[in-house]
Amino acid sequence: MANILCIGAGFVGGPTMAVIAKHCPEHRIVAVDINAAKIAAWQSDHLPIYEPGLKEIVLAVRGKNLFFSTEIERHVAEADIIFVSVNTPTKTFGQGAGKAADLQYWEKTARQIVESSSSSKIVVEKSTLPVRTAEAMERILNSNEKGLFFDVVSNPEFLAEGTAVEDMQNPNRVLVGGQQTPSGQRAVQAIVDIYAHWVPRERIITTNLWSSELSKLAANAFLAQRVSSINAIANLCEKTGADVTEVAHAIGTDSRIGARFLQASVGFGGSCFKKDILNLVYLCEFYGLDEVAAYWEQVVRMNAYQQASFVSKMVAAMFNTVAGKRIALFGAAFKAHTSDTRESPALAVCRELLEEHAHVVITDPYALESARADLHDVAGRVTFEPDPYAAARDAHAIAIATEWPQFAKLDYAAIYETMVHPAFIFDGRNILDHNKLFEIGYNVYAVGKPPLTHFENSNPVL
Ligand SMILES: NC(=O)c1ccc[n+]([C@@H]2O[C@H](COP(=O)([O-])OP(=O)(O)OC[C@H]3O[C@@H](n4cnc5c(N)ncnc54)[C@H](O)[C@@H]3O)[C@@H](O)[C@H]2O)c1
Repeated sequence: MANILCIGAGFVGGPTMAVIAKHCPEHRIVAVDINAAKIAAWQSDHLPIYEPGLKEIVLAVRGKNLFFSTEIERHVAEADIIFVSVNTPTKTFGQGAGKAADLQYWEKTARQIVESSSSSKIVVEKSTLPVRTAEAMERILNSNEKGLFFDVVSNPEFLAEGTAVEDMQNPNRVLVGGQQTPSGQRAVQAIVDIYAHWVPRERIITTNLWSSELSKLAANAFLAQRVSSINAIANLCEKTGADVTEVAHAIGTDSRIGARFLQASVGFGGSCFKKDILNLVYLCEFYGLDEVAAYWEQVVRMNAYQQASFVSKMVAAMFNTVAGKRIALFGAAFKAHTSDTRESPALAVCRELLEEHAHVVITDPYALESARADLHDVAGRVTFEPDPYAAARDAHAIAIATEWPQFAKLDYAAIYETMVHPAFIFDGRNILDHNKLFEIGYNVYAVGKPPLTHFENSNPVL
């Protein structure tokens, strides 16, 4: 039996500890957080985050071998293994502002671990961190005067929000990196043993510390790069009459390229892609690799362009003004199946529309609460409406910003009757049946496809 602690009970800490608790009934798992409201929510029926399948697992193990608490010191003292899953946002001040990772929460956590410990422990980097962070962590942890020794292990999390539970239960791989010393290798083995309860051993990859830290940044950079690459091609499609869905299919069937992450859209969001690429950019600059830095930075620039140009296209299509017009924004979450709105393209689109003096009505099945908090500075200028039919009533346009499957199943013929005409749909996720919408009477604009409009000469190409 081991006492496992996770510091930081957020989108990563909560689901990962729940799944570990489910598969390791002999271990006692505690997740702690400085945010008391979040811990209270984890202890209640209204969990602080939405993830498909999460509630069932939490209800099955909570109070048995999974506990949530705000008593950080006590649980640090009792723990044998401490996962640290606190946030590592982009630094907003000082050196590296706007790019480097802000490691203050991490460092505070390391100091707190030293202060509250009276036995040696394994400290696991679960947060995404710049490569070589473990070096600094080991120095802070092992400069203690209590004679304690801490092994630092890197175990980056590859789960994707929206499929967090499934990704944890059935991961492509688990990555564990450690120092190449006997003690470092024993620590790696202890973490491998936890995952081996349910993950086939061949899917558990062990590496040195630095490879593990860098692999997480590299994985997110490669994924985001695919999104920006297909979006770059989508822009060219719009100018040439090519259809990005056809292009994506044609290139994605090449097994060297593969079909996934080739869905053109209003851009990627989420708390990780942008910050992790900028973190990589900063690391490259730090090591004097300016060309390498510029290469990766363009992935982020392309994404910002994609969000801004979506709104520019809306304004241009709607007779060069959306001022005073009601726009129904379908989606607030950064992608489907999550309540997370961090870095959501939907909110970027919302803000751009407000700049144009549109009246924005946002609807989303799970993320309205979070959107309301994020948009508090423009409260009063945005309406939050859980019912998409009500959101679209009297609207000039619908903009699809999140690919919730329920948005594709709405009765768009009925919605059309309640809208101002000419009615517009801007499908920023390419999830709707565009020909059908056109037949109903909508003017339809998708990403990377020729527009379907009832006006003449609206497409510069065709
Ligand atoms: N969200 C994802 O999809 C995802 C996936 C893989 C990796 N990651 C990485 O995992 C880390 C956590 O991400 P997240 O999305 O779970 O963030 P989050 O903001 O949802 O959760 C972090 C939690 O840490 C808590 N915290 C901060 N400082 C603390 C301290 N000193 N003591 C105790 N609690 C503290 C915060 O209150 C918060 O609840 C980040 O480094 C992120 O890059 C995230």
